[in-house]
Amino acid sequence: MKKCIKVTIDGPSASGKSTVAKKLAKKLSYMHLDTGAIYRAIALHFKELNVLDASDDKLKVALSSFSYHFTGYDENKRHYLNDRDITQELRCREISDLSSIISTNVVVRSFATDLQRSFAEQFNVVVEGRDTGSVVFPDADIKFYLDADPIERAKRRFSELKAKHGYQDLTKEEIDADLKERDNRDLKRELSPLVCPEGALKVDTTSLTVSQIVAKLTYEVKKKAPLRFASPTYYCSYKGKKCSFMYLLTKWVFGAYFKIFHTYKVEGLENFKNDCPAIIACNHVSFLDPPMLGCASPEVIHCLAKRALYKSRFMSWWLHKINTYPVSGASDDKTVMKKVLALLLKGEKVLIFPEGTRGKDGTVQPLRKGLALFADKGKAKVIPAAVIGPEHALPVNKKFPKLFTKLTVAFGPPVYYREILKEVKDKKKAREIFLERVQNEIQSLIDKYKN
Ligand code: DC
Repeated sequence: MKKCIKVTIDGPSASGKSTVAKKLAKKLSYMHLDTGAIYRAIALHFKELNVLDASDDKLKVALSSFSYHFTGYDENKRHYLNDRDITQELRCREISDLSSIISTNVVVRSFATDLQRSFAEQFNVVVEGRDTGSVVFPDADIKFYLDADPIERAKRRFSELKAKHGYQDLTKEEIDADLKERDNRDLKRELSPLVCPEGALKVDTTSLTVSQIVAKLTYEVKKKAPLRFASPTYYCSYKGKKCSFMYLLTKWVFGAYFKIFHTYKVEGLENFKNDCPAIIACNHVSFLDPPMLGCASPEVIHCLAKRALYKSRFMSWWLHKINTYPVSGASDDKTVMKKVLALLLKGEKVLIFPEGTRGKDGTVQPLRKGLALFADKGKAKVIPAAVIGPEHALPVNKKFPKLFTKLTVAFGPPVYYREILKEVKDKKKAREIFLERVQNEIQSLIDKYKN
C-alpha cells in the first residue's frame, strides 16, 4: 500500500495553527485533520449524556455511541456528531473549556488517538493539535510547532470569538484568564502534555501574518522532501472541488463528443444540490457509462476501474489524473472498501456500479451488499442514477460506437440509509430495504426516460 505523508502542526491555543494547517493542506492538496474538533465533539457528547464526571467505565460506554466525521473544505467544512451537524456548537466557550478538561482523561485520549490514526491511514494529511507530532504520529514526515507571545494569542482569540461567534460582552481580561487556564491544563497534564515534539521545527508566529507562516511552512515541506512534494496532483478546480487539468480536459472532450455526435440529455441535476459526500449508484451497460456520468455530474467525481486497464504507463497516468482508482476484485473487497470510505469521509462523490450481475433484458439486477456498507460507514447519501442508450451506442462486444444515437443520463432523489435505519432500527433489515429502494429508483429512472 502507498505510504501516506503526514505533516503535523502542534502548538498552544490561538498560536495560529488551525488557520495555517487549513491553508497549508489546501496548498499541498492534503486532507486537513483538526484533532481539537475531535476532543470538542467528545466533550459535547459527554455533556449531552451527562457523563462529564463519570467513571472511566461509564465513559467507555458513552464512547461506544460516539461517531464523528467531517465533510467539505475550508469555510464549507462541517463537523458531525452521530450524523448531527455540530459545527457551530463546537466553537462555543463552554465546549472549549470542557474539551480541555476531558482531554486529560486516559480513556478519551486513547480513543481520540485511534480515531486520528484511522483518518490518516488513507490520505496525505496535515494534522494539527497538541500531541500530533509527539504521540499520535511520532513517525510523521515533517513536524512543526507553532507558538506566539501570550498577549498576541489572547488578542487573536478575542477577535476570533467576537467576529465569528458574536461574544460581544467578553472582556480582554476574561479571554486572557481563560487562555492561561487552558495553557496550564494542556502543558501540565500527565498524559500527552503539550510539548514541542522531537525533531519539530519551532516557528514563532507573533509578528508573522498567516500568509507568511504558510509560505514558510510550505518552503520547509518542499525543502525536506523536494521530490515527494514537488508536484501535487491537483492544479485546477471545478465548482469548488480540486481536480487535475486532465480531468477538466477529459470532461470537456467527452462532453463535446456526446453533444456533437449524439442526442445527449441530462435529467435530475437538482439531486446534486448539497455539498456533502455521496455515492452515485448507476446501472452498467457499456464502456460509455463512466464518461457519460463524469460529463453529466455537475461536480468532480471519483470512480473505480478494473486493474487490467492500468497496464500501459499512459493509461495508468491518465486514469490516475481523472480520479479513477484501480480495483482488483469484487467491489466489496477490502481495498475497495477502504478507498471508497476514505473518499466519502473526505466529502467526495464516488461513482459505483453496484449491480451484482448484468441484466440481459435491461432490468436492474439486485445490488451488492457493499453499497449499503459504504452508505453506512461513509455517512453518505446515495444518488440513484441511470444511463439509457449506451447499450445501443457501444454494446459490450463492439469496438467503435454507433454515432447519432440517443444518450440519456438521469439522476433520482437521494436515498438515505441512516433514515431507513432510524425507522426500522435493525441493521440487516435496513440494508435490505435500502438496497431494494436504490434498485427500484434506478429502474424507475430507466423506465421513465427510455423512450
Ligand atoms: O485546538 P482546540 O482548541 O480546538 O482543542 C480543544 C481542546 O482539546 C484543547 O483545549 C486541548 C484538547 N486537545 C488535546 O488535548 N490534544 C489535541 N491533539 C488537540 C486538542
